[in-house]
Amino acid sequence: MSGMEQYDFCSMSFYQIWIRSFCDGNGDGIGDLYGVYDKLEYIRSLGVDGIWFSPIYPSPNADYGYDISDYKNVHPDYGDLEQFQKVLQKAHSLGLRVILDLVINHTSDEHPWFIESRKGKDNPYSDYYIWRDPRWKRRKKRPPNNWFSQFEGLAWEYDDRREQYYLHVFARKQPDLNMDNPKVREEVKSIMRFWLEMGVDGFREDVITYISKHPQLPDGIPFLPGINGLPFYQEGPNLMTYLKELRAVAQGYGAIQIGEAPMTSVKTALRFLTGENRVLDMMIQFDTMMADCFLMEYIHHNFWLTKLKRAFSKWQYALAGKAWNALYLENHDHPRIISRYGNEKYWRESGTMLAACYIFQQGTPFIYQGQEIGMTNIELSSIDQYLDVLSIHAYHTFFKHQSEAKRLHRIHVSSRDSARTPMQWSRAVNAGFSTVEPWFYVHPNSPEVNVELEEQDPNSILNFYRRCLTMRKRYHTLIWGSYKEYFPWNRKIYVYERRLDRERILVLCSFSQENQEYRLPKGYAEEEAELLLCNYPRPITAGVLHSYEVRVFRWLEERA
Ligand code: NOJ
Ligand code: CA
Repeated sequence: MSGMEQYDFCSMSFYQIWIRSFCDGNGDGIGDLYGVYDKLEYIRSLGVDGIWFSPIYPSPNADYGYDISDYKNVHPDYGDLEQFQKVLQKAHSLGLRVILDLVINHTSDEHPWFIESRKGKDNPYSDYYIWRDPRWKRRKKRPPNNWFSQFEGLAWEYDDRREQYYLHVFARKQPDLNMDNPKVREEVKSIMRFWLEMGVDGFREDVITYISKHPQLPDGIPFLPGINGLPFYQEGPNLMTYLKELRAVAQGYGAIQIGEAPMTSVKTALRFLTGENRVLDMMIQFDTMMADCFLMEYIHHNFWLTKLKRAFSKWQYALAGKAWNALYLENHDHPRIISRYGNEKYWRESGTMLAACYIFQQGTPFIYQGQEIGMTNIELSSIDQYLDVLSIHAYHTFFKHQSEAKRLHRIHVSSRDSARTPMQWSRAVNAGFSTVEPWFYVHPNSPEVNVELEEQDPNSILNFYRRCLTMRKRYHTLIWGSYKEYFPWNRKIYVYERRLDRERILVLCSFSQENQEYRLPKGYAEEEAELLLCNYPRPITAGVLHSYEVRVFRWLEERA
């Protein structure tokens, strides 16, 4: 057994909502909580047990909700607190937990704390943010250190009134909070209590591993755009102490805590997930997102299956019996997986195979809106049509010297905007997302890729997700069993086993459009197996996987 049986989140799975593009319930072209309310039965029908909401709070949307201007309210575009409570109650009555995004590394520059803080050094909010004097070089003022922000240019912005720079690890409009200030930590706890008192079941904690900065803020490696300051704000000196304080609040309510931990190592993750220092329930690691690129634009290369498999197995082996994985392939920060790790020409096959390839691993699966119907990357014809701050910045800086076609192609394959097009509900106008023109482009494939159509098709990607989630609940081996990978060097096929007591389940996934011969690992006989799942409707050739085929076999040993 895994040693994690006491935690109920282990057997659960979650659906992620990025509300602006989920469903417009009041006809203004923007997704909202009225739309969510109407779709809760649909979400439940997938077989998930909870919802993670990306931020729903008031925000100027410089980073689409991750720049918060009021932590204890709902963005008027999405409804109000009353409507949120209705959603919460209905979700609970359907057996769905609800977790919110807790974004406390930074606020919006339009948050009242920041508006106050920039007024002067004697302001009560003065130390809520990270302010530093300029460095003077040859009589010119320079930022306090050489860090780049992850989203746009340098990590420091000068404020004329304070005559100081403030730190922003992300966009200019996202000043970093000073977590070393006890008052800030009290504010965070009060935000947590506000939502937990209302009945929220936990939090996904945004870049939580960045909240403690190295006190000296030393220079990073020069000329490494985006992440040169990382060693000095990732998993900083007081992180454990601060997370313990937050844990104490969450535990008072039995709340789930899932920490986003960009670029964290397994060794570090184990420190925060185990023993007395168990301050988080799960961590969202980034290794599986690096099989083709890192948080999109900076580095991008072709997809390597071996790299993806190494990332999967590394986390599976390292956490086994000690901690629990958060399993995901898509979220609002990454392009769509069929376009990335699958193949749009084999849309159905690769979309279904990718579902099985991660849902049956040990951990709690997260499914991002639209993933379950196989939505793919959108191709926009001009950079002016993109909205994501990071895409726009990358286009104008890193790719500046490339041809227009190449620059746009890079944005097309990697932009976060591809995950942010309106959810495709039906063949109706605007994909059934809204009765009026939506706030962002609907993917032109919506007449073929939509919930309505896939509901009617027993072999759709949508129904395959349902089957995977049902199977995971039915065969406990898929939740609690051990994990073992076979043939790690095979560049086309991913094979892993889950094993518990007398039961063995083997998952074989082809990442190739060509037929792939396979053999089963030693000790496995296909004739004795039960075929639990396959993404092709008809019986298939023994020993050969067709394009993007997945087969899941089961063996039950006789009792001795
Ligand atoms: C991670 C979030 O998932 C992403 O959308 C956001 O831009 C950054 N954190 C900054 O909050
Ligand atoms: Ca709306």
